[in-house]
Amino acid sequence: MFTIAELSTEKINTILKEALAFAEGKTAKIEGEVFCSNLFFEDSTRTKTSFDIAERKLGLQVVPFDASHSSVNKGESLYDTVKTIESLGVNLVVIRDKKDRYYEDLKNIHIPVINGGDGTGNHPSQCMLDLMTIYQEFGKFEGLKIGIIGDVKHSRVANSNAEALRRLGARVYFSGPEQWFDEGALINGTYLAVDELIAEVDVLMLLRIQHERHDSKMNFSASEYHRKYGLTKERERAMKKDAVIMHPAPINRGVEIDTDLVECERSRIFKQMQNGVFARMAIIKNALEEKGFTFK
Ligand code: CP
Repeated sequence: MFTIAELSTEKINTILKEALAFAEGKTAKIEGEVFCSNLFFEDSTRTKTSFDIAERKLGLQVVPFDASHSSVNKGESLYDTVKTIESLGVNLVVIRDKKDRYYEDLKNIHIPVINGGDGTGNHPSQCMLDLMTIYQEFGKFEGLKIGIIGDVKHSRVANSNAEALRRLGARVYFSGPEQWFDEGALINGTYLAVDELIAEVDVLMLLRIQHERHDSKMNFSASEYHRKYGLTKERERAMKKDAVIMHPAPINRGVEIDTDLVECERSRIFKQMQNGVFARMAIIKNALEEKGFTFK
């Protein structure tokens, strides 16, 4: 699974239903000896750790892979690295890489490859855990208003989420510094001024400024960004009564969100992280079942 776009709405719903069942206590164990490996060429705390836990919960043997000590540092390509891992007998890999659409280089790989994030492109497992968190809250997507504030142009989370939510019947609104938005960033939603968006939405998703993907002209000071576009305490008071706050994390406390709001009653930020394990269990199970593996 490389992108949300490649999944039918029926498949999204199937994975979602399984993820929700895992969250309710359902268990599944792979039959036979099955190996997996997590190849992370870009830093991660949540995605890598939750894939690792999900794999162990499903009974897979997790083969450690340390990108910083791999032969990639001697010039080996991603394709040759994954082909090697496949040849050694690993049955599934999860990959994160800085390069957009890195998976286009992996056409002759026959084991399931799950995208753990590619550059500014896609983050489908984050999307599934976000959908799961919204569904747990509202029991539907149809008619919900979702606001995404921040660095939409450079965010693989925003790209994956906006598309999936629109397909599932939600209305998506964006806000943030206007120079960060272009036609491409607005394919799946409508731009609103920050305060208008905050008063309107059922789900408010905040995004980290992706400094590492910006040129210097695009950067703001932390306090300037917080004042103009951040979720301040005053803005939080203007949210709808039952609206919730989400953030894929890592969080820049005091920039996109006031530090006291990170764990406030409306916040589902740590719930999202918890759901990451269940969503990733469902994604892995689905990928292995498509290859003929069975679970008991
Ligand atoms: N949300 C997310 O992808 O976090 P990590 O970069 O820590 O995996």
